[in-house]
Amino acid sequence: MTRSLTIALTKGRILKETLPLFAEAGIEPLDDIFTSRKLLFDTTVDGVQLVILRGSDVPTYVRHGAADVGVVGKDVLLESGADGLYEPLDLAIARCRLMTAGFPDAPKSGARLRVASKFVNVARQYYAAQGIQADIIKLYGAMELAPLMDLADEIVDIVDTGNTLKANGMVPLAHIADISSRLVVNKAAMRTRHLIIESLITRLGDAVARKEAAS
Ligand code: PRP
Repeated sequence: MTRSLTIALTKGRILKETLPLFAEAGIEPLDDIFTSRKLLFDTTVDGVQLVILRGSDVPTYVRHGAADVGVVGKDVLLESGADGLYEPLDLAIARCRLMTAGFPDAPKSGARLRVASKFVNVARQYYAAQGIQADIIKLYGAMELAPLMDLADEIVDIVDTGNTLKANGMVPLAHIADISSRLVVNKAAMRTRHLIIESLITRLGDAVARKEAAS
């Protein structure tokens, strides 16, 4: 079988909302992604395969052409940069906000603000744009712990319900960006696999519009 299209999907919460949209667009994995230990899945469309990745790896696979198309959060795209990628469609799923957060009315610990985040590039740009001198500390998870343990004054993180912040005595402070999952396409693949990718964008766009109209 010739490979006609490889689609990189973000695992976890986003995946649960992504698969129904792809099913609407006529693409379904042949195995159960949630119970299988496989990472690469054939689909109901001959030659179209799905690869399941951590979100932060999706732009890398698509940028290098190992996957032609991907689904990834805008937060990850803002952090990784958009080099080599088109972003033709907002899938309007996994909506949340990228925000700064911290303790309410916390006094600053020093001249420079200490900010913990896994979004270090976004954080650096945000505080620089505000004219705030900040030392950015890279973390890989559980950002809310950093102010609690006095590692940082503030965090930059995803806020959805706000429950995690609240449970740890913190509040959202400044809104940086609205987030949702996006379809990204490798720029070269957009030329060489134009027909199949255009058709995918159209079918997914229709599925998003139907879902939005029904909600
Ligand atoms: C995200 C984020 C917050 C939480 C926010 O973590 O980092 O911790 O969700 O959601 P809430 O506002 O509804 O409480 P996630 O569970 O995705 O895990 P992660 O730390 O691996 O990103």
